[in-house]
Amino acid sequence: MLEIDDLGPDGLEAVLTLAEAEPASLPRSLEGQGVALVFEKPSARTRNSSEMAVVSLGGHPVYIQGAEVGIDVRETAEDVARTLACYHRVLCARVMDHGSLERMAAALDAADVDVPVVNLLSDRAHPCQALADLLTVRQHFGADGARDRTITYVGDANNVWRSLALAASMAGIATRVASPDGFGPSAEDIALVRSFGGDLMVTNDPIEAATGADVLYTDVWTSMGQEDEAAVRAAAFAGFCIDEALVAGSAPGALVMHCLPAHRGEEISAGAVDGPQSVVWQQAANRMHAMRGLLAWVTEAGGDR
Ligand code: CP
Ligand code: NVA
Repeated sequence: MLEIDDLGPDGLEAVLTLAEAEPASLPRSLEGQGVALVFEKPSARTRNSSEMAVVSLGGHPVYIQGAEVGIDVRETAEDVARTLACYHRVLCARVMDHGSLERMAAALDAADVDVPVVNLLSDRAHPCQALADLLTVRQHFGADGARDRTITYVGDANNVWRSLALAASMAGIATRVASPDGFGPSAEDIALVRSFGGDLMVTNDPIEAATGADVLYTDVWTSMGQEDEAAVRAAAFAGFCIDEALVAGSAPGALVMHCLPAHRGEEISAGAVDGPQSVVWQQAANRMHAMRGLLAWVTEAGGDR
């Protein structure tokens, strides 16, 4: 699963159902097996939630810092994948370049090695986050009720936006995105999101996007790997902040969401992220449940890998 649409709408529904199941009711489908967790970038939530999800299915997580395997430095991405697949049932990686994941998955496919590759965040996508986000939305609105809701994303149309918008559209949920000029979604991504049937509004006006929305979501202005652009981005994104005024204009009881880490006073105010409508800690906790559902699906429950 390099991007959320690799699951297909039925696979997405199946993974979310597994994520909602009692952990003890799931088969220990990783019993006695390893799961590689490669990180070329830092992580708090993804590493810890993934390790504990693997353990809950009976498996053994092996955390690997990017420099240890040196993708395309020490050896090629293809050779890293072939090597790790000798020991592990699933290969999960957080990479600088999405293309590394595609090459790792292609190498395993070409060798007919049945080890799924899971994207733990790339410059292009963050599908494991989107799973936890949909789970959170469903917990509040119900699986059926969620389909009548609107999720508004304010800020950079980045990896987190892309996976969230795709996942929402696959689940029949309408989305809106408000970004400054030059930081909005590509025409290709807009078409892809809409291809799953979910409504998508694209604007550069946060107020227009937030008015009446059931969920307000944001992420950092400067993602990992973009640190050189931080000053330019800080100027461009001024005003693209989820604050108490934006929350007040959304639907009554709207959820305030953020994948974390948060920068209070930049993309979100302290009052919003720490306020009564914030569900950011539920999202963080759901990372583990979503990962357990995903791993159960790819290893046991008939996931098409
Ligand atoms: N949301 C998220 O992916 O957090 P980490 O970068 O800490 O894993
Ligand atoms: N867009 C952010 C998400 C961090 C979880 C990044 O890629 O750094």
